[in-house]
Amino acid sequence: MPDVRLANVTKRYGKIVAADNVNLHIYDKEYFSLLGPSGCGKTTLLRLVAGLVQPNEGEIYIGDRLVNNVPPEDRDIGFVFQTFALFPHMNSWDNVIYGPRVKGFDMKKAETIGHEVLEMVRLHERLDAYPNELSGGMMQRIAVARALAAGAKLLLLDEPLGQLDAKVRNVLRYEIRKMVKDLELTAVHVTHDQAEAMAISDRIAVIKKGRIIQVGTPKELYMAPKSVFVAHFIGESNFLEGYISSINKEGLIIELRNGMRVHTVQKNMKKGERAVLAVRPETFVIEKGIKKKKNSILGIIERTTFEGTNIRYKVRLENDDLVMVVKPSLIEEWLNVGEKVTVSFPQSKTHIFAYPEVGLKEELAVE
Ligand SMILES: Nc1ncnc2c1ncn2[C@@H]1O[C@H](COP(=O)(O)OP(=O)(O)OP(=O)(O)O)[C@@H](O)[C@H]1O
Ligand SMILES: [Mg+2]
Repeated sequence: MPDVRLANVTKRYGKIVAADNVNLHIYDKEYFSLLGPSGCGKTTLLRLVAGLVQPNEGEIYIGDRLVNNVPPEDRDIGFVFQTFALFPHMNSWDNVIYGPRVKGFDMKKAETIGHEVLEMVRLHERLDAYPNELSGGMMQRIAVARALAAGAKLLLLDEPLGQLDAKVRNVLRYEIRKMVKDLELTAVHVTHDQAEAMAISDRIAVIKKGRIIQVGTPKELYMAPKSVFVAHFIGESNFLEGYISSINKEGLIIELRNGMRVHTVQKNMKKGERAVLAVRPETFVIEKGIKKKKNSILGIIERTTFEGTNIRYKVRLENDDLVMVVKPSLIEEWLNVGEKVTVSFPQSKTHIFAYPEVGLKEELAVE
């Protein structure tokens, strides 16, 4: 039953607080991701669970066992590192059965496991190859096979796909998830790539500066971000500053720059309060020409970018705010630079937040 619990866990490196009073419950058989910008403390959390570093404060449980004083080798975990960490002088086969061997399994059992996991990662025909004879994707598959062969029910993966090209990453991430699910393992996967976390995770913890900002399913984080930071880090958002000018049955009305008013959803905020409106680029409705429409602002297209699947417009609204609008390129009629447009705000899909105390720019900074 390898669920993982961190209770009030803090890890300091001198003045740096790499894990700041972290409380987290990763369920048994869950595929869980730790997501956040570089330096936010993802690897530190993974190393704390693995026992490679010790917390200054707090408790770590794997299953029902308090593991604070349990050495890494007795925690029954598989670890896949970001950089290729295979033994260079061993071929794939020896790398993979290293775990079962040092655990003292009899040779026959170790071999059975070795064949099984190599089949699983589809590299059985390369069991003689040395790491330097394998591609990056193959090396990471061997690294996963090696972690699986050790028989641990808890798999810790630190940016296992980080060094691979986009196409290989996309395939391998589903393969890893499938193996974890087929073998009924619990996986904790570290990544700074939100698309990767969204695609493979049952739940995600968004981390910033050592703190857990929000935990949820990919859908929850995308549809209901609880902070400006999550709205920014998961998917993409336009942020417009203003203040609450009035409140009615359907929601709040925010006054943006230069007196432009937009209706948004309901939120527990007061009239006059400073606020940030967040709108996903794909949820705007954009139309050619000047239209009299509910909840819309006129604008002018400043830039168009063809991105393949999508076309992206940078639009200067008449109140001088800039927004990005994204539309499927094969479906919509394309608009041109300089064209006058009407941009409608989707009231039910807007998000509204209190203006961050540290300032919007600082709140959104990822470093
Ligand atoms: N051994 C160490 N000694 C001193 N500081 C450390 C040590 N390990 C990590 N840190 C610091 O702790 C903070 C968190 O580092 P960590 O490696 O956990 O971040 P990360 O989220 O994994 O980043 P990345 O995405 O770049 O791998 C950073 O400020 C880092 O410099
Ligand atoms: Mg890291």
